[in-house]
Amino acid sequence: MTDQAPAPYQGPQRVLSGVQPTGDLHLGNYLGALVKFARLQHEIPTFIFVADQHAITEWQDPARLKDQVREITAAYLATGLDPKVATIFAQSAVPEHTELAWVFDCVARVGWLDRMTQFKDKAGKHKERASVGLYAYPVLQAADILLYKATAVPVGEDQRQHLELTRDIAAKFNHDFEVPGFFPLPDALTQGPGARVMSLRDGQAKMSKSDPSDYSRINLADDADAIAQKVRKARTDAEPLPEKLDDLAARPEALNLVSIYAALAGRTAQEVLSEFAGQGFGAFKPKLADLAVSVMGPIGGEMRRLLADPAEIDRILGDGAARARALAAPTMAEVRKIVGFWNS
Ligand code: TYM
Repeated sequence: MTDQAPAPYQGPQRVLSGVQPTGDLHLGNYLGALVKFARLQHEIPTFIFVADQHAITEWQDPARLKDQVREITAAYLATGLDPKVATIFAQSAVPEHTELAWVFDCVARVGWLDRMTQFKDKAGKHKERASVGLYAYPVLQAADILLYKATAVPVGEDQRQHLELTRDIAAKFNHDFEVPGFFPLPDALTQGPGARVMSLRDGQAKMSKSDPSDYSRINLADDADAIAQKVRKARTDAEPLPEKLDDLAARPEALNLVSIYAALAGRTAQEVLSEFAGQGFGAFKPKLADLAVSVMGPIGGEMRRLLADPAEIDRILGDGAARARALAAPTMAEVRKIVGFWNS
């Protein structure tokens, strides 16, 4: 007997992604995720949320959490998301996320979660002291995505493993409950030179909110002077830029700056090298600084303007939550029936 391929998902295409409200957003978040949200909203129905439930897997000050959600929302708007086009909301405003996560906790296997590298990185040496939520975090992420039957998830490279897990959970749910094609197997959209932006101080380390050095990253809220200074101080080597991308393989800091330039300019890294081949960083860095200031500078100003009116941000989030729930509620009602819950 031959195994038949499971029935494919036949529903509509949808984009979903989210960001945790756990610190200042940086160039990595912008190039890996936010810039794609604004582009995709015009192509496919797009759902973008603020992951405040994921945020509390590590301690957050309750007096600050709402403001942190508003800051991420302001960043979404300042980078081009249009609340009339995309649905923008806070995860905690749609209780179906955690309801579906419980069902998925019972579908996912401990062995699958044991392989998650981000848990190992975040939990560090003392994993028995990490919250259970931090361990189960990728299961909630799968629920975020599949609650809306999203088919495409724009994220940075570091989220790829969580997307693989989401696909495994969707496939196992469809199989175990004999509902072929009920959940889609979503694709991670990680293409482009901004998928893995590295630290400005160390080309081997990811640019990250948690890096103690502020010089390791360009923040979305940085002003022009701060951006220019960070680019000037970025670690590099003494060699001129080569003609071919392959020749940057052993020069991580140089590759990172070329990739950042390419992502900011909407070009490929090879195109950037073709323009700058033979030039050293003394010539390249000022060009990169100018480009970064021209793209990022206005974003910080716009965020500050938006944050001066928190009531308007809350109105946008309230409206988005109502639209999100209108889609989430029927999916969850179907899941309750499929599982056989008493309340279905
Ligand atoms: P978070 O909040 O850590 O990061 C938000 C987005 O930024 C991307 N990113 C990067 N991209 C390129 N280079 C970097 N150095 C860099 N650093 C961060 C991340 O890949 C991400 O796309 N688990 C998620 C939030 C989440 C989510 C979801 C995402 C919760 N549920 C459902 C998509 C779908 C996270 O912690 O992202």
